[in-house]
Amino acid sequence: MASTEDKPANKENTSSWKDSFYNPRTGEVLGRTASSWALILLFYLVFYCFLAGMFALTMWVLLLTLDDYVPRYRDRVPFPGMSFLQQYNDTLQEMNMQDCVTGQYFVQDEAEEKKVCSFKRGLLKACSGLSDTNFGYSDGQPCVLLKLNRIIGLLPRGDPYINCTVKKDTPVQMAYYPEMGRIDKKYFPYYGKKAHENYVQPLVAVKLLLGKEDMNKEHSVECRVEGTDLKNNDERDKWLGRVSFKVKVME
Ligand SMILES: *[C@@H]1O[C@H](CO)[C@@H](O)[C@H](O)[C@H]1NC(C)=O
Ligand SMILES: *[C@@H]1O[C@H](CO)[C@@H](O)[C@H](O)[C@H]1NC(C)=O
Repeated sequence: MASTEDKPANKENTSSWKDSFYNPRTGEVLGRTASSWALILLFYLVFYCFLAGMFALTMWVLLLTLDDYVPRYRDRVPFPGMSFLQQYNDTLQEMNMQDCVTGQYFVQDEAEEKKVCSFKRGLLKACSGLSDTNFGYSDGQPCVLLKLNRIIGLLPRGDPYINCTVKKDTPVQMAYYPEMGRIDKKYFPYYGKKAHENYVQPLVAVKLLLGKEDMNKEHSVECRVEGTDLKNNDERDKWLGRVSFKVKVME
């Protein structure tokens, strides 16, 4: 008895379940007519196009406010740090300006393409790696090459030079190249990677003239940029305008 009663109910169930996909009487697919589906798809198409448009617009406005040449936020780097560097390529320096005026800023704010003052390795004389390819390391009087990190638009006042000291009772003799460890002002300002493509930082080489009594000992050397308004004594940042390293020469 129960089975005969169940059968028609089952049939109805399957047909209404099928109808929820496609109902041939009303022509509805998943409960919507074709025109209703068309409308809802159109709505979503327009909606997402609108969202994409909004995104593109805000992105475009944001990009308009950015400068290709200078990063917007540079508050963390008002003063240059110092660091070491590999050797320069004189072939490339030949192509740069040879006649920048010594001791004067090379300001070229208007120029579309910023020119670059050359820095020849020859300026570093004994530390140029030209006459002594070992940079003094083989005879126990090593050269250390120093540079200021690049900061866009930086104009150091005064006459910057590098002064190194060895923490030790009797001072260690040092030779600076170029003379007095000077950093010429003609290498400032720097205009950024895009505008100032081939820019090279001026280098200062310090040759530690260690004597016999300095051998087999570790020496702490600290170098600072001096003679300017650049910070070199910040307690919180020991790389601001200065650099320190250790040297030990074995006999
Ligand atoms: C210097 O640069 C030139 C030109 O790019 C290149 O041909 C040459 O190999 C470079 N020399 C060194 C020592 O890197
Ligand atoms: C270099 O620094 C030392 C130690 O701070 C100082 O005594 C010396 O006068 C400085 N030399 C120059 C040329 O500034």
